[in-house]
Amino acid sequence: MNKYFSLFGATGSIGDFTLHVIDNIKEGKPDIFLLSGNLQTEKLAILAKKYNPEFLHIPEKKKDELYRLLDDNLKKRINIISSFDEIYEAYHNVNIWEHYIINGVIGTGGMLPSFLSQHFNIKSAIANKESVILSHELFEDLDTSLIYPLDSEQHGIYKILPFIKKEEIENIYITASGGKAYKKTDGEISSLNLDDVVKHPNWKMGKRITVDSSTGVNKAYEYIETQALFNIPKEKIRIVIDQKSLIHAIIQDKKNNYYFTVSTPDMHLPILSFFESIGIYSQIKIAPLSFVDFQVQLTDILSKSYPILGPFINNYDRSLFAGTFLIVLNNRLLDSFFDYKISFSELRDKLCQILQILFQDRDDIYQSLFKNFNKLSFKDKDSYIKINEFLDIMNKIVEKFV
Ligand SMILES: NC(=O)c1ccc[n+]([C@@H]2O[C@H](COP(=O)([O-])OP(=O)(O)OC[C@H]3O[C@@H](n4cnc5c(N)ncnc54)[C@H](OP(=O)(O)O)[C@@H]3O)[C@@H](O)[C@H]2O)c1
Repeated sequence: MNKYFSLFGATGSIGDFTLHVIDNIKEGKPDIFLLSGNLQTEKLAILAKKYNPEFLHIPEKKKDELYRLLDDNLKKRINIISSFDEIYEAYHNVNIWEHYIINGVIGTGGMLPSFLSQHFNIKSAIANKESVILSHELFEDLDTSLIYPLDSEQHGIYKILPFIKKEEIENIYITASGGKAYKKTDGEISSLNLDDVVKHPNWKMGKRITVDSSTGVNKAYEYIETQALFNIPKEKIRIVIDQKSLIHAIIQDKKNNYYFTVSTPDMHLPILSFFESIGIYSQIKIAPLSFVDFQVQLTDILSKSYPILGPFINNYDRSLFAGTFLIVLNNRLLDSFFDYKISFSELRDKLCQILQILFQDRDDIYQSLFKNFNKLSFKDKDSYIKINEFLDIMNKIVEKFV
């Protein structure tokens, strides 16, 4: 039986890794149902030619530009879609047993594939942590059995969990590399510029997540993602530094056994494992570790390197939508950082200051706006519109602080 894939965020870094894995499948290569992009129309047109999907998904404002870039043959065959109703219609009749969604979108745009997956019961491999956080905070019926986590730490936990009874778990440790700001003095941090911060020492990733690794926002997201995906109480989730990014997750049981997932930092690995979990094998091999590499030192997070992380974790409250707030705030500040309007140290400082205001004035901010918010259901098609309304309100709140 042929398998069909939708790859959301096909033009990004997770998109590149996924297509590289698919290129190296020799038998049972899956068909591509849909590829999506946002701004990179030329890249999406090249991918359309190579992978021949049934649908291309792109924002309305980019539709004509993308159409002009397709050759005549593709123009006749491929449907370019933009609106929610168009994409909803496209999934309405898919056979959910043959279909898989890969979510490699960055930011809250990742909510679209996650919503489609949950609404239509389609299995999805998710790298987009933002949509997991929104699903956790805004929805009442997230079905985690539909999710294969691609984020390396969550993938590490997912791989270990079958070996341990849930009630036996003492702690779950997720690792952070430290990013560019780790162990730097205030003076060194203030001289970091955009080009410095977008180069991650270990991982090849998109620019925004690389900056998030340096501010600690990425770990704050993963802290919530871990609670959401595995239903683990927040008190049991710890963060430690492994500067080489070789250890992705550790589970400690009540007898103090420790289970580690260790590998070369390479995002091909979780994607390969996902494909293998559904019986599709790619020829890509991950570089082995040598014992020389494997001299890791695990240290506790340093509040000086990640000033937002401690306060965020200590104050985190799902019912206050603190993760959603952080996503919206961080996206807004990252836009300013990438436009050279604020420096890296200003980005860090503003994140800290504004989060502090949120936690101090939580009642004033939320009581009036979200007090009567009823959790959404994935089964209700209109929930997708309600998420966007919610995000609009959150954007307005954030704008007041920024
Ligand atoms: N890269 C990694 O190694 C890695 C590892 C773990 C987790 N993740 C997570 O995976 C997600 C993707 O990260 P990435 O590094 O692959 O990002 P990226 O390289 O920046 O790619 C993001 C993709 O999302 C698309 N996109 C951006 N805004 C969009 C919107 N509003 N609506 C729809 N599509 C949109 C982009 O389209 P255009 O390029 O056409 O504009 C691109 O295809 C993030 O949530 C990240 O935290 C990534």
